Order: sequence, then C-alpha cells, then structure tokens
Amino acid sequence: MTHPFIRRTLLILIIGCSLAATGSGQGQPAWMELARTPPMGWNSWNKFGCNVSESLIRDIADAMVSSGMKDAGYQYIVIDDCWQVARDKNGTIVPDPERFKSGMKALADYVHSKGLKFGVYSDAGARTCEGRPASNGYEVEDARQYAAWGVDYLKYDWCNADGVDPKIAYPTMRDALKATGRPILFSMCEWGSNKPWTWARGVAHIWRTTGDIGDRWSSFTRLLDQQVGLEKYAGPGGWNDPDMLEVGNGGMKLNEYRAHFSLWCLLSAPLMAGNDIRNMTPDNHDILTNKDVIAVDQDPTEQGRRLRKNGDLEVWVKKVADKAQVVVLLNRGTADAQVAVSWQEIGLPYDAEPAVRDLWAKKDLGRVKGTFVATVPSHDVIMVKVTP
Ligand code: GLA
Repeated sequence: MTHPFIRRTLLILIIGCSLAATGSGQGQPAWMELARTPPMGWNSWNKFGCNVSESLIRDIADAMVSSGMKDAGYQYIVIDDCWQVARDKNGTIVPDPERFKSGMKALADYVHSKGLKFGVYSDAGARTCEGRPASNGYEVEDARQYAAWGVDYLKYDWCNADGVDPKIAYPTMRDALKATGRPILFSMCEWGSNKPWTWARGVAHIWRTTGDIGDRWSSFTRLLDQQVGLEKYAGPGGWNDPDMLEVGNGGMKLNEYRAHFSLWCLLSAPLMAGNDIRNMTPDNHDILTNKDVIAVDQDPTEQGRRLRKNGDLEVWVKKVADKAQVVVLLNRGTADAQVAVSWQEIGLPYDAEPAVRDLWAKKDLGRVKGTFVATVPSHDVIMVKVTP
C-alpha cells in the first residue's frame, strides 16, 4: 500500500509531466522564448488593407525566400484584418471562402513548406476594425482553430471593445493560445491606450505603443517621439511595438525610409515589413535587408534611447554586445546639418579612441578620438557602430 501523500504527489507529478509533454502546461520561460529577440516578418495591412487572398499570401511567401528577406531574418507572414467573414452555427470562425478557397490549413502548410511561419489577426472586441467577427467570448474556440490550422502568430486588435477590460481580455486570449499547446507568438495591438508597457510583459510578446503608422515623414517622427522613455520596458520576451514598417510603400523618400528603418532597429522594434515585397526597388530591398542594421534590432542587450535633442537634431544610442554601442544621428530639419557626439556622452572616457563603422555606407571609419562629427542630410540619419 502506498501512503496517500505519496500517491497524491505521484499523481501530481504524472499530470505535470504529461502536461509538459503535450505542451499544454507550457511554462512561462518557454513561452517567453518565442520572442527572445523582436519578431521579424511581413504583414498585409499597410500595403494591401482588406485586399488579402491566398494567392497574395503564397506569392509573398515565395518572394520572402527569393528576395533574400528570409535569409535576412524575416520569418512570419501575417494576414491582417479581413480574412474572416462569419461564424458558423457552432461558433467556428469562417474564413472568406472566395479569397481563401483552399482553406487556412492548406495556406499555413504552404507557408511552412517555405521554412516560414504563418500568422493571422483578430480583435479583443465584438468586431474587428473592419467590422469582421472578432474573438470576444470565442477566445478558446478561436485559439483552438488557429492551432489546428498551424498558426504561429496572432495579432490581436482593440476595436469595438467598449466595456472590455484589456487587462482581462488580453490574458484571456494568451491563456487560450497557451492551452492549445502550440507555440503562438502573441502580438497585442491596443495602440498604447492603457500604457501596456507597464503591464503587458508576460501577457504578450509585443505590445503596440501607439496608434497606426502612416506612410509619411510626419507620422514616423510623431510615433518616434512617443517611444521616448519606454526603453526600460523592453527586453527578451516582451518588446515595445511602434507599429509596422512603411519602407517601400512610396509615401516617403529613400532617405526617410532609411531613417525610419534605422530608428526602428535602434528601438528593438518588431520588424514587420508592410510593403509589396514581390516588387521592391533595389534601394528599398537594401534597406530592409541590411544585415548590420538588422543585427542592431536583434541584439537583446537593451532597447536604444534618445540621448539628446537639440531642435531638429537628435542623438540616439543603443548598447549592443561586446561593449559596443550604436549611435544614430537624426536630422529632422529641412537642411543638411552637422551633428556631433562626444564619447563621454555615451559613457566612454573623454580620450577614448573607439573603432567606428558606418552601417549604411558599410565602411570602417577607423579609430576616432574624443568626438564623432558627421554631416547628416535633411530627413536622414548617420548610423555608426562604436567599438572600444
Ligand atoms: C487597426 C490596427 C492596424 C490594422 C487595422 C486593421 O487600426 O491598429 O494595425 O490591424 O486595425 O483593420
């Protein structure tokens, strides 16, 4: 006869082990691991809006590989709003049967066959922003359905959520996703309305800090200003999300896209391309796939921060591995301007002589003593890595 205490302990151990084996007891460390570094991928919204279909997603998956984006680190392909049209009589979400004829499972399989990951979108309210059926009250059903399709990423929006408490709604969906046993990266899109950076670590892997980005310089700088002070909340497992990339969508000049991409990388932002990657100009392609700049984004040492602002001229800095730092000089003005940063300002001895590499020119500038000075063109950046 085994003692009842030992029997109970054994039972708990057995249940614990089998839960761990099926993944439904997926612990916090494993879940956090899904975003040890900021996620990278592509999302349909910025370029295509509601014009999504399985042929688009397949083409994008093909282009992700053929363009070299996959090799550069982009991984998730996410269908934003408008893939869903109804719920059937059992409450199961129904994808648009015209636009997704082969079904979501087949599409996920296709994306996976390219070595990529597949994501969808829903909303914590009654309807999505485009009025499609959302997940409030259907969290468990929807999470199960996503897992059955092979979904790897859920973007979860905040429209039509009157009376819904985000601190309940987002954990409810997180728990439903975890309970499926499938690792699904959870992207919280609450637009920063309830200061998610103060409470979303452990709830979601990324949390939007702002309203929607627009394909304009003024939108980029407005969102950028909203990131100041949020750096301390980011780190492995949870990242501030200043919204997706507009690089290549046509509303900004090349230098402006370079500035947008550089700052998003300095901020360790999720890098979700939002352009038509099937038809990219070589210039936009080179921005999105600059490996040295992407490495800055993916370096988990810290999120960068604004060190100084003098009118239109700003200095941003991020610590990276091996005691190196990355400095971005940003010129928001309409004329070219000189910007200087002394090594003391970034915590080095006044007579330090670190090696400086220009990450866009892809050029070593040699050792620089005391102060680094550069001419920054209007609406552009100089981005350098400083290695003591
Ligand atoms: C909101 C989100 C956007 C996008 C749209 C889709 O505005 O913030 O990123 O998902 O909804 O309708």
